[in-house]
Amino acid sequence: MTTLSAVSPAELAVKVFARDERCHFNTENSPKNNGGVFDRVDDLHCALVDASNICQRAEVELHENTLTNFKGELFEIAQVDVLRIVIANMTSIVERALIHQTPVELPTRCIPPVVHHRHAMRHPVIASSLRLFSSQMKPRLAVLYQALDPPVLNGVQKPKKPNGYVDSCADIAYTVARSGGFAVATPAATPDPAKDADWSFGDDEAGILDAVRAGATHLWANTVLFKEHPLQTSAALDAHQDDVRVVGQPPLLAETYDDKALVNRILKEQGRFTIPVSCLANAGDDLAAVLEREQLSGRPVIAKPVRGRGSHGVKLCQSLDELERHVQSLWKESPSVILEEYLAGQEATITVMPPSAERPTYWAMPIVTRFNHVAGIAPYSGVVAVTANSRTLTEEEEAADPTYKQASRECAGVAELLKTKAPIRIDIRRFSDEPGSPFALFDINMKPNMTGPGRPGREDQASLCALAASGLGWDYAKLLQEILQSASTLRELRSAKLD
Ligand SMILES: Nc1ncnc2c1ncn2[C@@H]1O[C@H](COP(=O)(O)OP(=O)(O)O)[C@@H](O)[C@H]1O
Ligand SMILES: [Mg+2]
Repeated sequence: MTTLSAVSPAELAVKVFARDERCHFNTENSPKNNGGVFDRVDDLHCALVDASNICQRAEVELHENTLTNFKGELFEIAQVDVLRIVIANMTSIVERALIHQTPVELPTRCIPPVVHHRHAMRHPVIASSLRLFSSQMKPRLAVLYQALDPPVLNGVQKPKKPNGYVDSCADIAYTVARSGGFAVATPAATPDPAKDADWSFGDDEAGILDAVRAGATHLWANTVLFKEHPLQTSAALDAHQDDVRVVGQPPLLAETYDDKALVNRILKEQGRFTIPVSCLANAGDDLAAVLEREQLSGRPVIAKPVRGRGSHGVKLCQSLDELERHVQSLWKESPSVILEEYLAGQEATITVMPPSAERPTYWAMPIVTRFNHVAGIAPYSGVVAVTANSRTLTEEEEAADPTYKQASRECAGVAELLKTKAPIRIDIRRFSDEPGSPFALFDINMKPNMTGPGRPGREDQASLCALAASGLGWDYAKLLQEILQSASTLRELRSAKLD
């Protein structure tokens, strides 16, 4: 066991300390420094190369919860924190220097020595060593969990997920960290695979800034976004709009997307999507009259909340009596409720990926079919594991029935219309059990569950999207990598508009 201070100065040429949100290069252990400021361009060059070496090695080891230096000596685990900061800061310093070309635009939290050496940054030796350093560093992911309460919209608040999705956040971060390609920034210095909260930052402004400060180049917004969300509104993030990429929907649009009634209306106005008859029942409405108007009288009807999650409050009602009782109970939670034609046939779900550099169009993944319904409803995955009631269709099965292709086309069309920036998952169901009965699109999920296997003890975790990916031969790690490839810059996300 050895401590950092016992490591030779050359190995620790650069140390970074966080102080008042500003990071200072501290070169106290370097023989080449003078009071924390580099006097000579060559010194900075050496320091950067040394730091690069330290970071490279530390990076490899950090995810194993151990850390060895160049000589294979084991570091005290408490020192991992220091190296983590070194790595994070070196990444962001170098990236920003490269992105902005001139050091003048470096944020103040970057290092005084570099700022002191504005002219030095333009020096070809420094520039090339920075580039070398940067090319050695991996992009870095930070996952955001839901720390903020969703807003109340039209008197309705989407229920917040009790644990803020920290469990799937941890699945994502853990798997990405282990699969190469990306490094992962976490709030805990040595995240424990068994502790969900160790792996993700809150989606409040402080949490997001912590993630960026930890060097995140990619933020995975595994949370519910809305117009006033700090990803959209935080001025402190303005400086990062072009160098931070985000997996998530545009916050300005997410609010619209989350309202099932509004999305239904948008789709209906298009006239080209297959959708069920659906309408709103507002508190106090005469339900018999509403059903009459929609030609739903005497037919089984689904009643559900406008901002749902996990089948909460969704019920198949076979009579007006039953419907009235259920709608009364839903009105206690929210003043408007969706009444929908009951689609009695096969249920399935289709994940649609956004365009990426490699694949520049919206495209549908293999279809996952769902069975074992309870009282006509697919139960919440938290109650019945998706592997117990869902299966990916084979290519042959999809090819044998043209309604599958039609449904996939329509789902990709929805994503294109809504200009989604991250994967969405659309629930579909056939009108009836008649062979060849068409599929109607009834639930557009803008933040599908992205959990998957990986963490010890969670080997059997799955999600409908992960099942779909398996149909392509993708494992969970590959799915996450592909999603990361489609991330948009924060600027793109903030400025997205519907036509
Ligand atoms: N119009 C409908 N016809 C038939 N089944 C429906 C309909 N709407 C919802 N369901 C059933 O209820 C489940 C949950 O409803 P959904 O609209 O997907 O809400 P959630 O947001 O809770 O996923 C669906 O998976 C499906 O089994
Ligand atoms: Mg659904």
